[in-house]
Amino acid sequence: MGAINTVGVVGLGTMGAGIVEVFAKQGLATIAVEIDQSALDRGRAIVTSSTQRAVDRGRMSEQDAKDLVDSISFTLEFSDLAAADLVIEAVPERMSIKKDLFSRLDAVCPPETIFATNTSSLSVTDIAATTSRPDRLIGMHFFNPAPVMKLVEVVRTVLTAQEVVSRISELARACGKSPVVVGDRAGFVVNTLLVSYLNDAVNVFDQSRVSREGIDTAMTVGALLPMGPLALCDLIGLDVCLEIMDVLFAQSRDQVHAPAPLMREMVSAGLLGRKSGRGFFTYEKPGSGRVIPDELTPADFEPVTLPRQVYLVGDGMQCEELVKLCAQAGVSSHVVSYDQFDPGQVPEGVPVLVSVKPVQRAIDIATQMGPRIDEVIGLHVLFPNQKGQLVEIAATPFSSDRLVRISQSIALGASASPVICDDDSGQVVGRLLSPYLNDAVRMVASGYVSADDVDTAMMLGCGYPRGPIAFLANFSTPDTICDVLEQISRKTQLSRHLPVSALTDAAIYGVGIDQLLTESS
Ligand code: 3HC
Repeated sequence: MGAINTVGVVGLGTMGAGIVEVFAKQGLATIAVEIDQSALDRGRAIVTSSTQRAVDRGRMSEQDAKDLVDSISFTLEFSDLAAADLVIEAVPERMSIKKDLFSRLDAVCPPETIFATNTSSLSVTDIAATTSRPDRLIGMHFFNPAPVMKLVEVVRTVLTAQEVVSRISELARACGKSPVVVGDRAGFVVNTLLVSYLNDAVNVFDQSRVSREGIDTAMTVGALLPMGPLALCDLIGLDVCLEIMDVLFAQSRDQVHAPAPLMREMVSAGLLGRKSGRGFFTYEKPGSGRVIPDELTPADFEPVTLPRQVYLVGDGMQCEELVKLCAQAGVSSHVVSYDQFDPGQVPEGVPVLVSVKPVQRAIDIATQMGPRIDEVIGLHVLFPNQKGQLVEIAATPFSSDRLVRISQSIALGASASPVICDDDSGQVVGRLLSPYLNDAVRMVASGYVSADDVDTAMMLGCGYPRGPIAFLANFSTPDTICDVLEQISRKTQLSRHLPVSALTDAAIYGVGIDQLLTESS
């Protein structure tokens, strides 16, 4: 087989147009095909505005951007694809459309042409089986925005020729991407982990008091993720997220993969995210990433007068961080440990702030307060990082509104980001990260992917600062994660939220999870 010099891309939606840009930037002859003139014009406009963005940022000259767009052969002529060494499709995610496309491609392209699918939810094997060249059909799964995200999941089926796997991996590398070769399982590596986490976030948003801004702030400031889960749902498209959850659910038949009811409702209502102009957030116009205020946008916060002193229950480093936070806001704290807490000692009118740890809840202290049960609230202060400092305000069902506002004012007074949430185990960050980490360990332990590859995939596919296994090895204690998972499972009643055995082993034997997973693979 010769080199890949000419590439055809069919379907110029967000992903297809991004893929065209990737190949054209690499200097490959790129044939971009759509079914009608308006779709073709839309595809060209996506590539043009993406390259214009690079010009605006001084990364590319006007001339280079123009040359790049001009170098692409935008066409409605399907037969032009006969010249391609590789044709990749990014058409809508319906098997009937893909089948029809590949049978037409089979008729047009010579037998040596490689076919690739950018499907995120259909079985690559099922697609391959519909062609006359199943050994030369492969998954080439890019991530949104394709010109930026460095990962390509190269999906091999049981029929794909090794030579095709090598050539597609090589091509991805030549385009500045990092390929990770994976087997053909629903969701592959990244979507299984990412979209399950997004689905979980939608459920938490739907079923708790945390706001959409709160969820996204928690995960960006508290977990250093590049985007919050709800903004990311809007970027990917809620319809795409729903399709992925549907296939994950069909494969696992586990309730944990059941699409969030709110997600389905929004898709039925046409609230698909950026592409339709409205999803969890509202955008300036369809296709834009600029969020505009809507009826859910919180009103400007009016700080309340802060008390001079608070009664602070807790111990350890997180409690020290809370003392610092209060001091920065000009509030002094009287600290007692959990064991020594005596409700009779709390002076009249002094609020009780409980330094809650991931598995601790403020309600345990609140219920000791008798008629003053509304004067207790939990605060979980994360350590400051380059994005600032997150304060999770864990309000019990009894915490007064005034106390919630005092807590917000303390956080804002210390220039931290407050997020109001329920007084549940893990608050927001721990609640959403723990099942994701558990899923990643489960996936590695199953032998589907190595610890290194799952870490690479999540960092390069989603821009995470570190992969799940490295996170567990360096930033978290397995026993805390196991405790949080057990409590989450108690609440959700989902056995898949229980810690997997590799995590419990790491907790029991004090062995690093990375070591444990390396030993077992
Ligand atoms: N097209 C082209 N370039 C883009 C772009 C786009 N749509 N969006 C951003 N960029 C470029 C910018 O020009 C900028 O380039 P520069 O560094 O050369 O100047 C760079 O990306 C950073 O952009 P910004 O400064 O505007 O914004 P951020 O720093 O906030 O980064 C982001 C934006 C790259 C989207 C970042 O928020 C991120 O990594 N988000 C996570 C995205 C993610 O998780 N994607 C995977 C989704 S799952 C998927 O796609 C699979 C599918 O099957 C569902």
